Amino acid sequence: MERILIVGATSAIAEATARRFAQQGAKLYLLARNRERMEGLARDLRIRGASQVSFAVFDANDFDSHQALLQRAIDDMGGLDLVLIAHGTLGDQKACEKSFPLTLRELNTNAISVISLLTHLANDLEAQRHGTIAVISSVAGDRGRQSNYVYGTAKGAVSIFLQGLRNRLHKKGVHVLTIKPGFVDTPMTAAFRKGPLWASADRIAEGIVRSVQRKRDEVYLPGWWAAIMMVIRNIPERIFRTLSL
Ligand SMILES: NC(=O)c1ccc[n+]([C@@H]2O[C@H](COP(=O)([O-])OP(=O)(O)OC[C@H]3O[C@@H](n4cnc5c(N)ncnc54)[C@H](OP(=O)(O)O)[C@@H]3O)[C@@H](O)[C@H]2O)c1
Repeated sequence: MERILIVGATSAIAEATARRFAQQGAKLYLLARNRERMEGLARDLRIRGASQVSFAVFDANDFDSHQALLQRAIDDMGGLDLVLIAHGTLGDQKACEKSFPLTLRELNTNAISVISLLTHLANDLEAQRHGTIAVISSVAGDRGRQSNYVYGTAKGAVSIFLQGLRNRLHKKGVHVLTIKPGFVDTPMTAAFRKGPLWASADRIAEGIVRSVQRKRDEVYLPGWWAAIMMVIRNIPERIFRTLSL
C-alpha cells in the first residue's frame, strides 16, 4: 500500500490526483493552507477508498515549519513512498514589475518553498533508498516571456533544481519526476479565456499518475506541449525578443 504525501493538497490538480490515489487504496497525508477545505477533501478521499487520510495546516512561506511538518507526516504514515508538491500562485506580473517585495513573495511561494521542502525530503528518501518525488513545475519555466516571467523564473528554478536532484538521487533508487503542465482550467486560471489548448485538472491528474507508475523523468501534460515547447525553446532570441508572448 502506497504512503503518499500531497503538499498543496487543495489545488485543483492535486485534488484530482489525490482522488485517483484514493481509488488505489493509498494512505494519504495532506498539507494545505485551508483546514476546512482539507477536512472536506479528506472525507471525500476516505469515501473513494483511501485506507487512511490525515492532514495538517501548512503555509508554504513558513519555511521554519517545513521540517517538523514533513517528519510528522512521515511518522503518521509509517514511512513515505511518494510525495507530490503542487502548491503555487500565478502572481500579477504587472504588479511584480513595480514591486520587488511582491516579486520576492512570488519567488518564495513558487520556488524557495519548494526548494526548502525538497532539501528535507531528498535527505529522507536518500536515506531509505527508495521513493518518488513528483513536483508540479510548468511549461512557463522553459523560457522567459514578458507576460509571466516572474512565475516562469520560479518554475524554471524548480525544474533545474529537480534535474540536479534526479542526477544525485538516481543511483540511490529515488525517482524524481518533473511535471510540466500547459494551460489547465483551475481556480488559478479562472480569469483566462479558454481555448483548444486547455486541459482539465483530471486530465493532468491522469498524466501524473501514469508518469509516476512509468518512472518518467520530465513530462509535459498533455503530451502535445512537448512539441510546442520544443518550438518555443528553439526560436532564436533575436526573434523571440520581438514577439508579444
Ligand atoms: N493551472 C494551470 O494552468 C497550471 C499550469 C502549469 C502549472 N500549474 C501548477 O500546478 C500547480 C497546481 O495549481 P492549480 O492549477 O491546481 O491551481 P489552484 O487550484 O489555484 O491551486 C493552487 C494551490 O496552491 C495553494 N497555495 C498558494 N499559496 C500557498 C501557500 N503560501 N501555502 C500553501 N498553499 C498555497 C493554494 O492554496 P489556497 O487554496 O489556500 O489558496 C491552492 O491550493 C501549481 O504549482 C501551479 O503553478 C498550473
